[in-house]
Amino acid sequence: MQGTEKKAFDTAWVREQFPSLKLQVNGHTAAFLDGPAGTQVPKQVMDAVQNYFLTANANTCGAFATSRRNDAIIASARGAMADFFNCDSNEVVFGQNMTTITFALARAIGRELQAGDEIVVTTLDHDANVAPWRALEEKGVVIRQVDIREADCTLDLEDLKRKITAKTKLVAVGYASNMVGTINPVGEITKLAHAAGALMFIDAVHYAPHGLIDVKALDCDFLACSPYKFFGPHMGTLYGKRKHLEKFKPYKVRPATDLSPECWETGTQVQELIAGITAAVDYIAELGRRSDSTVKSRREALQAAYRATHQYETGLLTRLIEGLQTIPGMRIFGITDAKRFDERCSTLSFRLGDHNPTKIAAFLGDRGIFTWDGNFYALNLSERLGVERHGGVLRVGLVHYNTMDEVDRLLAALREFVSR
Ligand SMILES: Cc1ncc(COP(=O)(O)O)c(C=O)c1O
Repeated sequence: MQGTEKKAFDTAWVREQFPSLKLQVNGHTAAFLDGPAGTQVPKQVMDAVQNYFLTANANTCGAFATSRRNDAIIASARGAMADFFNCDSNEVVFGQNMTTITFALARAIGRELQAGDEIVVTTLDHDANVAPWRALEEKGVVIRQVDIREADCTLDLEDLKRKITAKTKLVAVGYASNMVGTINPVGEITKLAHAAGALMFIDAVHYAPHGLIDVKALDCDFLACSPYKFFGPHMGTLYGKRKHLEKFKPYKVRPATDLSPECWETGTQVQELIAGITAAVDYIAELGRRSDSTVKSRREALQAAYRATHQYETGLLTRLIEGLQTIPGMRIFGITDAKRFDERCSTLSFRLGDHNPTKIAAFLGDRGIFTWDGNFYALNLSERLGVERHGGVLRVGLVHYNTMDEVDRLLAALREFVSR
């Protein structure tokens, strides 16, 4: 097996990279099960941000050293995200967060739309992939919303096929649900959108920490995600096919360049955080190299990393679901059949009898276990599942720095909660 060395997942090394995982709360080591709202960052990201301030703190395109360094840092981050998305550097746009980017893109696309044109959104999506498109209703654009199959919280593809018509100009679908973890068949949906002559926009914010993104294979027109959900700083990024980034016209100030992708980046960017994005991608690549020493390019290293983390996270998810199912009054939303775990990621929501999710989250929080309660802005879904009026759900998010021990701590605390 010379030259094909593959190693077991090295949790100890992973956890060493994330200094905040050592945080203590009430005598307990914090268990960060709150990743879907933002993950912790490895020290490489913190160092990159600090290094920016020490050596490259200037605005862009100046004729002096720090400005040139800043330009180089931005170019290198575009290269890192190009490897992450599998696209060209000039197809990568930076912005404040996915929501802001999507509103700006929707406004730009909206300039080309007429009253009666249609956009398809879904019940499964975060509102950041609904409200920006709904805002175009002001222009007479018609929004059609695809329903879910309630039993397993998957998209109703038959409904989707009905909702895509000859008038559809854009289909906006999430890659994975930030509430119930469902992974949507976005490649297949892209084909349906294109067959109708529509553009495909994918919200990959929730998918990005769990699965490899390949915009070439998907053939989507746009895809957005947020580095702070995949171990990087608080920012958003957009992939757009070059021809679209050049064709659509963003709202911008007159002196700013008309060249794409920079013309999409309104005002001065959070450059110190752009430096951190490269470090986040390089961290994931390093993880990949440690799990498969034969990989060569950064893209191959990213592929290896996601292979390793997917397997590891599936192990955690299996333990979590099996454990939750033994707790009286437990109602898990979404796919629970282990044979179908490839259709979901390791984010899970539940209700426990009539207990208010905020009270459960506070009980767990006191024990150093961080989970989220509410609707996480997946408002359509929370309403559709009938939980919106009752405080939503409790969400547990597992990423590759979490451990079996943390899952067991959560299960023990939930048993304690119900037996009080
Ligand atoms: C699936 C999904 N889409 C979009 C967003 C919004 O991302 P941002 O905070 O970068 O605007 C989130 C944030 O939680 C999310 O989970």
